[in-house]
Parts: sequence; structure tokens; C-alpha cells
Amino acid sequence: RIPRAVRVVEVGPRDGLQNEQAVIPTAQKLEFLRLLSEAGLPVIEATSFVSPRAIPQLSDAEAVMAGLERFPHIDYPVLVPNMKGMQRALKAGVRSIAVFTAASESFTQHNINATIAESLANFQPVLALARQEGIPVRGYISTVFGCPYEGKIAVEKVLEVAQALLDMGVSELSLGDTIGVANPQQVYEVLDVLLETGGIPVERLAVHFHDTRGTALANVLLALQMGISTIDAAAGGLGGCPYAPGAAGNLATEDLLCMLHGMSISTGVELEKVIAAIDCIAPRLTHPPTSKYYLSACQT
Ligand code: HMG
Ligand code: MG
Repeated sequence: RIPRAVRVVEVGPRDGLQNEQAVIPTAQKLEFLRLLSEAGLPVIEATSFVSPRAIPQLSDAEAVMAGLERFPHIDYPVLVPNMKGMQRALKAGVRSIAVFTAASESFTQHNINATIAESLANFQPVLALARQEGIPVRGYISTVFGCPYEGKIAVEKVLEVAQALLDMGVSELSLGDTIGVANPQQVYEVLDVLLETGGIPVERLAVHFHDTRGTALANVLLALQMGISTIDAAAGGLGGCPYAPGAAGNLATEDLLCMLHGMSISTGVELEKVIAAIDCIAPRLTHPPTSKYYLSACQT
């Protein structure tokens, strides 16, 4: 049942850079995006059209989209929280977006200042406009495996939010382990409910693991065994959410690629070119990248 090919969704320029202390110049972000594109990643989340007060790190979203060198066959989605973000994104020439909510009320409140129901209501006109413009929409559900404010989250709540987003017309759901607390047993339980009870087609699900406790790759293996073939990761293991205290970076793209390629699962991505992209951004960060593969590559 393990897929022979995986679509890696690179979230480093968005999830990664939204959480960096250092101010990274737009030109450096564009170079990072170009090198990731050269590595052959099929989907690269480029930035977010959120409130610049909420995420000052990505307040140059317009400039990033204006300067972005778009490679053929690469999708460059952006995060959009509301109609204001959608209007900005359309004006900037965006052709693919992601909306985001959570399975936990407290996290949703901290992150987007809304209840889950309000967030879904805010997405309605965004999705209607996206449909009109022929723009595909991914839906993120955060805190699927645990919340920094509420702890464990009921899987029934995850299913409810998932079904609401799918009914609204999102083409893909990304299940976020926002603070990196999931274990493989939990991944099995959540996916089983979504796939079997919810009847959600497996190709519409993606997984998004932060790697706070080193369980992300084990969780990926379980997801693969359940047929998931879209996996989010961030080059250098960058990432985190300023509204999720305690969260560490995303699963590192290079650690994911190393495992997948070792298992003869194809991705179309050149691992060494991802390393070149990290080499470009690493000197701009206030800390070294954390991934196992990158650190071992630096030592040899
Ligand atoms: P709010 O304060 O409730 O919004 O924020 P508002 O509608 O009341 O507006 C307040 C001000 O913000 C107004 O400006 C609006 O114009 C402006 P003022 O009149 O005061 O000058 N505003 C905007 N400006 C630019 N772009 C916009 C926009 N919207 C309003 N789109 C809001 C609500 C949702 C906007 C805010 O809370 C926000 O932007 N939050 C985003 C937080 C965020 O980006 N978090 C990280 C991404 S999620 C994540 O990382 C998890 C994920 O990786 C998966 C996982 O790991 O689980 C996806
Ligand atoms: Mg994330």
C-alpha cells in the first residue's frame, strides 16, 4: 500500500520564514525560492497574505510574488486567512491558495482571532471567489494531534472540520501536527477515522508534521503505510508558528527525501539541490538548521 511516488509540498519559505527572528531581505527569500525551484519541488508555498501585524516576517508578500521566478510545472500557493488576503493575493497574481483553521477553539482564537465556525464562515467568500477564478484551494487543519492550549483534541472534531472544509470546496486537506506531539499510533487513529468513518478519499489528504520531539519521520512512515502520498516539509527543518508556543520546526525536507529515496519512493526532487537552497538561507538565520541530514552533510 506504500505509494511508489510522493508529492513533497515545500513550506519552508512560508512556515519556515514566518517564524524566524531575523529580518530576511526579500531578495534573499527570492533566491531561496529560486534554488528550491531548481531542486524540482513540485509545490512551494511562497508566502502568506495575512495581517502584517500578526506575521511581520511575511509583510513583503507582494514584493515576493512580484519578484518570484515561476518555474514551469511548479505550483506556488500562498496562505490566505480572509477576503482581504484573497484580494491582495489575486492582485499579486497568485494562482493557488491555502486557507487555514484548526481543530481546537483556543488555537484558532490565538492564531486568527476567530472561532472555528467564524473562520469557516470567513472562508466561504474566499472559496467562492477562488472557484470563479479557477484557483485551487488547500485547507489546513492545525492542532489535529494536540493543541498548545487544550492538549488532546477529539478525532471527531477533526473529522467535523475536515468535512466542513471539503463541503466548502477545498481540493486537499493538510493535517497539521502544529506543535509536533503526534505519535504513529495517533496518526493511525486519526487517518483511520478520516478515511474509513469519514470516507475521505486518501488522495485528498496530506500530512504536515512539526518535529519537536523527533517523531515526524515515524509519523510519515505510518501515513505512507495508510496510502498518503502528499507530505509537507520545510528545507532545513525551519518552521513553527508564533501562535503555537513550544512548536519546533517542520519535518526537514532533506530528512524526508533521504528516507523516501532510500525506500525507492520517487519524488522528482534533487536532494543535493535542496541542500544548496539551505546553504543560501542558513547564514541569514539566527540559529543553525536542525535537520539530521544537513548537519551530517556539513560534517563530511
Ligand atoms: P484581526 O485583527 O481579527 O482582523 O486579525 P480584522 O479583520 O479585525 O482586521 C484588523 C486589521 O488587520 C485591519 O487593519 C485589517 O485591514 C488588517 P487596520 O484597519 O487596523 O489598519 N487585516 C489585514 N491586513 C493584511 N492582510 C490581511 C488582513 N486581514 C486583516 N489578510 C487575521 C485576523 C486573520 C487577519 C490575523 O489574525 C492574521 O493575519 N492571522 C494570521 C496568523 C498566521 O499567519 N499564523 C501562521 C499561519 S498558520 C500555521 O502556521 C499553521 C500551519 O503551518 C499548519 C500547522 O502547522 O498546523 C498552516
Ligand atoms: Mg506548520
